[in-house]
Parts: sequence; C-alpha cells; structure tokens
Amino acid sequence: MLKNYFIALIAAVGGFLFGYNTAVLSGAILFIQPQFNLTNVQTEVLVSSFLFGAIVAAILSGKGVNYLGRKKMLILTGSIFLIGSVLCAFAETPLLLIIGRIIVGLGIGSASMTVPLYISELSPPLKRGFFVSFNQVMITAGICVAYLVNLLFAHHEMWRYMLGIGVIPAIILGIGMLFLPESPRWLISKGFTDKAKKILFSLHNHELATVELREITNNTKTHTQEGPLFTKVNAMPLLIGVCLAAFQQVTGINTIIYYAPTIFKMTGLHSDVSAIFATAGIGIVNFVMTLIAIQVIDKLGRRPLLLIGVAGMTLSLAFLGFSFHFGAQSPSLSWVITLCLVIYIASFAISLGPIFWLLISEIYPLSVRGKAMSLATFTNWTANLIVAITFLTLIQHLGRASTFWLYAVISIGCWLFVYFLVPETKGKRLEEIEKLWEKSAKK
Ligand code: BGC
Repeated sequence: MLKNYFIALIAAVGGFLFGYNTAVLSGAILFIQPQFNLTNVQTEVLVSSFLFGAIVAAILSGKGVNYLGRKKMLILTGSIFLIGSVLCAFAETPLLLIIGRIIVGLGIGSASMTVPLYISELSPPLKRGFFVSFNQVMITAGICVAYLVNLLFAHHEMWRYMLGIGVIPAIILGIGMLFLPESPRWLISKGFTDKAKKILFSLHNHELATVELREITNNTKTHTQEGPLFTKVNAMPLLIGVCLAAFQQVTGINTIIYYAPTIFKMTGLHSDVSAIFATAGIGIVNFVMTLIAIQVIDKLGRRPLLLIGVAGMTLSLAFLGFSFHFGAQSPSLSWVITLCLVIYIASFAISLGPIFWLLISEIYPLSVRGKAMSLATFTNWTANLIVAITFLTLIQHLGRASTFWLYAVISIGCWLFVYFLVPETKGKRLEEIEKLWEKSAKK
C-alpha cells in the first residue's frame, strides 16, 4: 500500500501543475498587461490561450496513452510543462508569452486525463476513489499555491517568477515518473504479461494480484486491443462521461475560480487586497473540502456525494442570484455573497470536482479507455472555454442575478442526470465495471 501512496503522490504532481498554471495568470496578468501595453482583446487571448492548448492536448492524449503508455506520457507531460514555463518566464514579446501559455496548456490538457487514468489502473479497487481523487486535492493545492505566489510576488511586480516557478513541479513530475511502474493493464494489452505480473504482485497482496492478473488477461483475450468507440456497449459510459464533463463546467465553477475577485468587487468590496484575500479563502475551502471528500469517497460512494454536492451547488447558486437581485451593494451583501460562494465551492469540492475525473477513469472498457477519456476531457476543456469567454458577456446582458440562476437551472439538470443515469462504482474492480455495461447492453 505504501507504494500506492508514493505512486499517487508523484503522479498527482501533474494535478498540482494543472491547478497552479490555471490560476497563476490571474495575478500575473495585472503586471503583464501594462508592461506590454496589451489591449483588452490581446489580454483575453493571452488569458484563454492555455485553454486552446488544453483542448488540443485532450484530443491527442487518447492516442498518446495507447501508443506510448501511461508512464512515458506523464514523463512527456512533465517535459512540456518545463518548456512552456521556461518560455513564459523569459518571453520578451506578447507573442512568445502566448506561445508559452499554449504549451503550458498542452501540459494541462494531457495531465488532466493521464494522471487519473494512470493512478486508477494501479490502485487497489477498495481505495481507488481515494488515490485517484488525490489528483483533485493536488489540483486545488496548486490553485492555492498560485494565489499565494501571486500575493508574495505582487509587491515587486515579479510576474516572470510567478510563471517560472512552475518549472520546479514540472521537473519533479518528469524525474519522479522515471521511478514509477508502467500500468499493468496497458502492459498486458500490449503483450508484456510477465512485466505486468511483476508489477501487480509488487503492488497488491497475493490474492488481489492473482485475481487482477486473471481478470485483465481474460479481458484482453476476449476484447481487441483497441476497439471501436461508438458501439452499443459503450453508448452509456460515453454519454455519462461527456455529459458529466460538460456539467462540471457549465454549472459555473470557473466563473468563481477565474473571476472571484471580480465577483467580490460586484458586491461592493472596493479594495483589491480584500478581494484577493477573499479569493484566497475560497481557494483554501476548495482544498480542505476536497481533502475531506477523499476520505469518505470509498465508504459513502460516488453517487451520494454527487447528489448531496450538486444539491448544495444548486441551492447556493439560486441564493447567489437572489442576493444580487434583492440586495443593494453593502457590507452585508458582501457577507451573504461570500457565504453563498463558500457553500458553492464546498459543495463542488465534495462532488463534481473529484468525482467527474474519478468516474471517467473508471467507467470505460480498457479497449477504448484512452479514446473515451480523451473525448470526455476534450468536452470538459471546451465547456471550460465556453464558460470563460461568455461569463462577463452574460453578466452584461442577462444581469448578475439571472446569470447565476441560469447556472442553478443547469445544476438541477445535472442532479437529475446523476440520479437517473450514473451508476455506483465504489469497491468494484475495473473489469467488473466493464461487465456491467455488457450486461445492460444485452437487456
Ligand atoms: C476542474 C477545473 C476547476 C478545478 C477547481 C477541476 O476538477 O476540472 O476546471 O478549475 O476543479 O478545483
């Protein structure tokens, strides 16, 4: 088991890089904009450029994890982060900075799908939720550290350091992965059964390793190495992955993560410093609640957490809308809105945050796992981009209250979707989950 902790810890540095690099620019941009004299359009392109990189990487990573394997793909991801961060730190023109951020985005997109996939395939079934979701803990830790680094360097306007510090975790990921094993499932699917056997027996107790080896080998005998994606058996898991991917974003999480200071200022909080501190508070709540969620994810199960969390998100979004609708700008409005945001973030952190990434690493048959995760990840980043570029426009045209009500209505849709369609995967072996779809397709 100790080995499993080590594996999750190192691989999830990829999650840390995902979180850090998505949040760090929010502080750095304040100094980059005046230094390069950026127009609003140029600023928007710079801020969203990483999302384009992430979308492209999500498409390519499906092939990458199949062809290179999970381990080499993570080493490559560390190297991409390294190159991107160095380029950003030394960029002398806005164009170079944008290219640097697109490269960092490639790393983010690749890490977002490869880390959960890798950890999931190496974890014991009874603790898989804990280990895979450790990645989400590291994403939220990365976001917190980025806010902190932004605060530390803000006084000296040292934006190059803010962006450049990302090289440290990138090196840890790249080098650390050299010492970790390849996924036994990928090895067996490529015919390296002996190697996979050794890894399984070094990771699990004798009994579990024997069952896993037998099940994975049988599974790869009856299924082709790389099967077609759009089949009757795959229809349901594909639908679940793609819809949850979109729901995770279109229920508004990143309007808070990317625009929290702007939202706080809408409530009448005038000082930048208070807005930044309030934002840091949101980051800490996100981190702490994720940490709590992963302790119970394998005991309570994925479904109860999703249903409770999405209900909490819906209610807090609805109240946020009411507060903006009925409240005049005042200190008490700031408090009510802060409370709504805290409940919203806490609810996301125990549900859609970790559980979306966990489920897409669990629900797909091995023969299409790479491609299917790639599709879900692509949907997630595309939805992320759509929300990021429409939020301020929605606020302008619909108004603040209606914008948050819109997210609340979408959250109700998400709750119903989970209630009717998402199965419980707690404690099941990946091959057992695979059989579940085969059975239901035969009905
Ligand atoms: C989401 C990100 C989000 C982060 C916040 C992740 O699971 O995919 O879009 O920024 O959680 O904690």
